[in-house]
Amino acid sequence: GGGAGSAAAMGHAGHGGGSASGIDIATLVPDPARVADVHYDLVARAARVQLPGVPPFDGFTLNGSTPGPTLTAAAGDLVEVRVTNADIAEGMTLHWHGVDVPNAMDGVAGVTQDAVAPGESFTYRFVVQVGTYWYHSHQVAHPQVSGGLFGALVVAPAGAGADPGVLDAVALMHTYAGVRTIDGLPGTAVRGGAPGTTVRVRVINTDPNPAPVWVAGAPFRVVAVDGRDVHEPGEVAGRSVVVTAGGRADLEMVIPKAGVRVQVAGAALGFGPGGGTEAPAPRAGLDLLHYGTPTALPFDPASAVRTFEYRIGRRYGLLDGRLGAWWTINGGIFPDVPVYLVRAGEIVTFRITNDSGEVHPMHLHGHHMLVLSRDGEPATGSPWWVDSLNVEHGVTFEVALVAGNPGVWMDHCHNLPHAAQGLMTHLMYE
Ligand code: C2O
Ligand code: CU
Repeated sequence: GGGAGSAAAMGHAGHGGGSASGIDIATLVPDPARVADVHYDLVARAARVQLPGVPPFDGFTLNGSTPGPTLTAAAGDLVEVRVTNADIAEGMTLHWHGVDVPNAMDGVAGVTQDAVAPGESFTYRFVVQVGTYWYHSHQVAHPQVSGGLFGALVVAPAGAGADPGVLDAVALMHTYAGVRTIDGLPGTAVRGGAPGTTVRVRVINTDPNPAPVWVAGAPFRVVAVDGRDVHEPGEVAGRSVVVTAGGRADLEMVIPKAGVRVQVAGAALGFGPGGGTEAPAPRAGLDLLHYGTPTALPFDPASAVRTFEYRIGRRYGLLDGRLGAWWTINGGIFPDVPVYLVRAGEIVTFRITNDSGEVHPMHLHGHHMLVLSRDGEPATGSPWWVDSLNVEHGVTFEVALVAGNPGVWMDHCHNLPHAAQGLMTHLMYE
């Protein structure tokens, strides 16, 4: 980055969030002698990218394509990924978005590792939890992510193997050079599948803004959000689901005779004969605050030992010597922002408010946050875990987490230009 530490940090733009859904810290740190269950080799390159229906652009590939390969594993597996930077001059890293990795594996250039220079390699090793995740570079993150340096990571339940009765589909949503795509394709990709088959669509939003997704032709359930299962989700029809920037939503439905279509603005996946029929976006959205069925929590949020304020705002000031209207946290402009200090084992809550005039998808590395309330209205559905939370202007969220994963973790806006404009800080362990 240009200049001082703050410039470097902004380039690295990432914050992170939490893993606190009752995870045992010891399981996060793999025994150095343990042989990996799954190994991948990835090669990152700068490239002139040619995708169907997208104007050619200067971007990035992993193993020759963007999105990069979908990595798969089973819960509890030790995953090892060796990434080689062939020729990306600025360097690159891989961050495992939503995976509660040990801190040294978090892939944040300038915080947990140096950027991988051209001709060099870095090997990530971590034990995975079930769920839908994605990986992306965390070095000059905005241009590298928007340019294609990312892919999906899907972790199946332990020992189960793929359920042959369920058609499993990744829907990696990304806007390349102004064109909205799913898995690198604009328009509708028809995937087939026999009527009566259950299909699970793992929607991943890699774009800077929230994306409503909807299902035309069948009722559906939201079975997981940000890699965490929704408890006893009910059937939904005629509603869209907002997928936070950086966030994921897994939708499950049964393919009807006439087919079904999972849509976002500009792209879709079709299943069944003909791939279903397009429908306009429903006006009503599903409110995850009240969706699904309550169940026991792995910790008691009422026993939180600290409550932090995280007030997002905007004001004129200097950032890296540049005058502008910058994002603020608790009134301060980066790096004059609070660092959130915790001790291992503590339960803490955050009160997140947004008076900045725009929506911010707040992402915490290394932890999952449990949403307790929005605008004072308590959550009444399934425990709603997030690593990426859509915080709209004027809204207040209360979230809780267990400080269960020691390290220095980014906590930032996943509209990555906003992170570069100062909307980032750290969760740190004493
Ligand atoms: Cu700090 Cu998905 O990134
Ligand atoms: Cu933002």
